[in-house]
Amino acid sequence: MDYRQLAKSAISARDAAYAPYSNFAVGAALLTKCGKVYSGCNIENAGYSPCNCGERTAIFKAVSEGERDFAAIAVAGWLRGGVPGMAYPCGVCRQVMMEFMDPETFEIVVCTSENDYTVHKLKELLPHGFGPENLA
Ligand code: THU
Repeated sequence: MDYRQLAKSAISARDAAYAPYSNFAVGAALLTKCGKVYSGCNIENAGYSPCNCGERTAIFKAVSEGERDFAAIAVAGWLRGGVPGMAYPCGVCRQVMMEFMDPETFEIVVCTSENDYTVHKLKELLPHGFGPENLA
């Protein structure tokens, strides 16, 4: 699958990152199975623990608008002023994905540009994950 457009959306969402403490800006673009895209950025806080990752901002925006069927998420993070590198989702975000996404099919697109990205299934990034199926 060609994720150039989704990567572009994640990079553009990163412009809104509120990261005055870490200076690490993250953008995410979440693709629904119907083709709609929800974007998100990280939002930090002087209290530190209320910080929210870019991925979760996008996921919570989508879920709060009634979306439940997701195909992929693109993530672009970089330390402002530094050399762009691949920024993989943190463990908390992987766990949140586990709640709503199918680990066998959902794709995580980690990118530095629209032409430079790697694609992983959620199952690869969170093997033996704990999810809703465990409580059914
Ligand atoms: N961050 C994300 O937005 N996503 C991740 O998956 C990793 C970390 C943010 C949180 C914090 O605002 C900054 O990056 C540094 O940890």
